[in-house]
Amino acid sequence: MYQGKKGFFITLEGIDGTGKTTQAKLLAGNLKKRGLAVLLTREPGGTLLAERIRTMLLELGEEKPVPLAELLLYAAARAQHVAKIIGPALAAGMVVICERFSDSTLAYQGYGLELDLEEITEINRIAAGGLAPDLTFLFHLETEEVWRRIRQRDPARGGDRIEARGRAFLEKVQQGYLKLAEAAPDRIKVLRCQGKPVQEIQELLLTIALERLGEGGGNG
Ligand code: TMP
Repeated sequence: MYQGKKGFFITLEGIDGTGKTTQAKLLAGNLKKRGLAVLLTREPGGTLLAERIRTMLLELGEEKPVPLAELLLYAAARAQHVAKIIGPALAAGMVVICERFSDSTLAYQGYGLELDLEEITEINRIAAGGLAPDLTFLFHLETEEVWRRIRQRDPARGGDRIEARGRAFLEKVQQGYLKLAEAAPDRIKVLRCQGKPVQEIQELLLTIALERLGEGGGNG
């Protein structure tokens, strides 16, 4: 249990291009409309320093971090983010919505890059100071559809960082996510997004979030 936590911590997970950013914004807006104090943030990032680490990680520079360095950079960004932003917001009783958190590290650096899962779990625990999400939405789409979206959305990005790792990498990450969800069915809700309109997915998210928050169901 994270010390001093009073609020509610929601994370959105899934491979790139599954619609997390759109849904996170909609969810934040819908919860605010109901009078809740909401903080919307993302990983890697959320503070100036963590955003700088994000740039280092996501831009294709001349020197690529080795997998262990990559893992530790994500962990460093998380430590900063939890200490400066997420922890204080939860202590103040806010609902924190974060795009990606520790599950991303297990899925990408663990299942994707094949670093040791137990070591990652320990590093995640240390980096987050023991903080774990109360509720996680896992966005699931066929990788073929994801690949198409990535290229449509941002051909430059699709053409370098993500493409550099390839579709097979995304497949491994996706399978990893499903294993994580199987192991924690109460916390991780898998959202099958294939063919579903944005609004339908949002209604599902909102209903589940409100139930967990003890605010009752409903949408809109
Ligand atoms: P996104 O915020 O646009 O999804 O990009 C973040 C990228 O960083 C995404 O490809 C997943 C990756 N990532 C990791 O590999 N490990 C992590 O722990 C986190 C938080 C993100």
